[in-house]
Amino acid sequence: MISSLRGMNDILSEDYERFTYFISTATKIAQRYGFHFIQTPLLEETALFKRSVGESSDIVGKEMYQFIDKGENDVCLRPEGTAGVVRAFIQKKLDRAGGIHRFFYHGAMFRYERPQKGRLRQFHQFGVESFGVDSVYEDAAMIMMVSDILNELGIGYRLQLNSLGCNDCMPPYREELVAFVRKCEDGICEDCVRRVDTNPIRVLDCKNGSCQELYISAPKLINSLCSDCGNDFNTLKKILEDNAIAYEINTNLVRGLDYYSKTAFEFVSDNIGSQSAIAGGGRYDRLVEFLDGRPTPAVGFAMGIERLMELIVMPQTKRDGYYIGAMDDKAVDLAVKIAHMKRKTDRAVVDYKAKNLKNHLKAADKINARFCCVIGEDELTNGTIWVKDLEGKREEIIKIGEF
Ligand code: HAM
Repeated sequence: MISSLRGMNDILSEDYERFTYFISTATKIAQRYGFHFIQTPLLEETALFKRSVGESSDIVGKEMYQFIDKGENDVCLRPEGTAGVVRAFIQKKLDRAGGIHRFFYHGAMFRYERPQKGRLRQFHQFGVESFGVDSVYEDAAMIMMVSDILNELGIGYRLQLNSLGCNDCMPPYREELVAFVRKCEDGICEDCVRRVDTNPIRVLDCKNGSCQELYISAPKLINSLCSDCGNDFNTLKKILEDNAIAYEINTNLVRGLDYYSKTAFEFVSDNIGSQSAIAGGGRYDRLVEFLDGRPTPAVGFAMGIERLMELIVMPQTKRDGYYIGAMDDKAVDLAVKIAHMKRKTDRAVVDYKAKNLKNHLKAADKINARFCCVIGEDELTNGTIWVKDLEGKREEIIKIGEF
């Protein structure tokens, strides 16, 4: 038997209901914030992710589904959504048009990670990207939007916040951090030794316990932010407080993608095991220019749909539509005809096998139909149909012409 690839799941039936319920809720809320749908291809040039997510990141360094296509192009399946949206934004010359452009998207992302609970190789994200707003109020709006979505879905969370500074305050901090890590180089893991040279900030979110202990006394960027970044961070905290959104400061929150500056945030859940990040994002004011567009401030986030599906409190689904069955083979054609008519406006499911009333009632209940409609020999002779309302429990016999 051929099975699906490791870390790649099928989504069907009840899971699909959760999936679409999530998408429709998040879409509705993103639209309330003035965002518009964008769809970008699953496959992009590898260079796009190397330049945006960063060569030294785990995503680009270890996790890309990368290959040479039949036209000798170096391509890869997208590991995340931001880079493609930025590429589309520049390609459509929206950077030159100026103004504010707000997008949301959802779809499959691919990362060749070690699969475990909550960590897949093909997973789905819902994300938003906002271009052209150089105000920390937009950063706050991103956080409020995630919070609105999670609240609407009945999902509890903890919000972690950090600032990654800008081109003025990050470089001197990086030097300070490198000097600190070099002093404790004997006690740190191999990955951190490599990171000191390639991407020193990433040592801060190393998962190794003994590294973490050493880094407790590491210098903290939020203590050396420039006045612009410091003011923005304070304003952001105040907006969140004014809007009753609780947060924790996590000075080790550096995010796994290289394009961020200033605001960085993550929403975590304590109810889904070790892969606890359910959403993450931040500001990335340098990325548009870095990908050859006009300098444009930008901020966004993405949510991991599979992780959220574990947590969603689904609303009670109401019975709907018609189940139509026959008690005699001769009545099947009529059942099909009635269903065809009903489907102009409603859900109608036909059972093509004649069976007794009890079994029809069971089958109607199983598909959560509102009405169980059955045609027996008597009904066929009289041009009627037997209908039971499975909600109100009322039964009646209705003339087919009036049904
Ligand atoms: P990210 O933190 O890499 O950010 O991913 C966002 C979310 O996707 C995570 O919080 C997690 O819920 C989910 N996720 C990530 N990897 C996996 C996986 N292997 N299996 C299941 N779920 C996963 C980004 O991707 C950025 N593009 C977010 C962003 C948008 N920043 C600015 N704009």
